[in-house]
Amino acid sequence: MTLTAYNSVEIPSFMYGTAWKKEATARLVELAVVSGFRAIDTANQLIHYEEALVGKALQKLENRGFKRDGVFLQTKYTSVDGQDHRAPYDPTVNLTTQVRQSFESSLRHLFTDYLDAYVLHAPFQRRGLGRADSEVWEAMEGLYQSGKTRIIGISNVTAPQLAQLCEQVNVKPMIVQNRCYAVLGWDKEVREICRNNGIIYQGFSLLTANGRVLADPEVDVIARRVGATPAQVIFRFAMQIGMLPLTGTTSAQHMQEDLQAEKISLTIEELALIEAIAI
Ligand SMILES: NC(=O)c1ccc[n+]([C@@H]2O[C@H](COP(=O)([O-])OP(=O)(O)OC[C@H]3O[C@@H](n4cnc5c(N)ncnc54)[C@H](OP(=O)(O)O)[C@@H]3O)[C@@H](O)[C@H]2O)c1
Repeated sequence: MTLTAYNSVEIPSFMYGTAWKKEATARLVELAVVSGFRAIDTANQLIHYEEALVGKALQKLENRGFKRDGVFLQTKYTSVDGQDHRAPYDPTVNLTTQVRQSFESSLRHLFTDYLDAYVLHAPFQRRGLGRADSEVWEAMEGLYQSGKTRIIGISNVTAPQLAQLCEQVNVKPMIVQNRCYAVLGWDKEVREICRNNGIIYQGFSLLTANGRVLADPEVDVIARRVGATPAQVIFRFAMQIGMLPLTGTTSAQHMQEDLQAEKISLTIEELALIEAIAI
């Protein structure tokens, strides 16, 4: 299944995330694609991701018959604040040039001449957006308009920041990627802005940020009814309320289980129960 962005680009409805996989990244990306994932999330940020090893996996997959355009590739520009000494650009040049250098480096790492989605890893400040955000966004708009990336997006964004961004830019983000806490109504305010602007919401840490929900007896009852695990119920809940979930599993069995979640059907009452469970 796919979700369609407001510019008609289709995104596979479940994404495999590659953070914190270190040297296992290549093996796990290969396994994820062979298992059935068709969307991969990474970042050009060596503190948390091994983007070049994602590229290695893609090369191996190509040898096994998986074509580049059969995998949705998403990566990020991370500002100097989120980098260590190994930033993939010259940190002394202006932001427009940093974005271009980081993007070109991502293309080299991933053995491709275009990206499916390019994401600003985080705004430069906790509240509001500043000149740095505007400059980076304009550089990303340039990449989008030149056809080098099919989608642009933003991550780790608050509701006021997203509203401001949508208001002030030429090209609104097609995707938002946020950590999704059940205690915040599963990021209700940001999701609402996304819904109103046709933006696809990608949720991460759905399991790791919501341990209490996973252990909740009512979720267990739902899981038993549909013959699934609580983790599958959470992923399916996310999909049914319009989210695109990410998983970062390192287990072949969990990869299968995560993908199988799409086959479950939760009732409207069950969705409402889970939506309000931690508030
Ligand atoms: N934009 C950002 O700043 C940002 C930040 C964080 C993450 N992300 C992205 O989001 C991706 C996913 O991150 P995440 O935090 O959601 O995942 P994660 O931290 O990698 O955690 C997934 C956890 O869920 C478990 N799990 C997955 N499927 C399961 C199942 N079916 N049953 C039981 N346990 C299961 C995994 O355990 P097993 O390994 O044992 O399966 C693992 O402990 C990252 O890799 C990255 O791409 C982005």
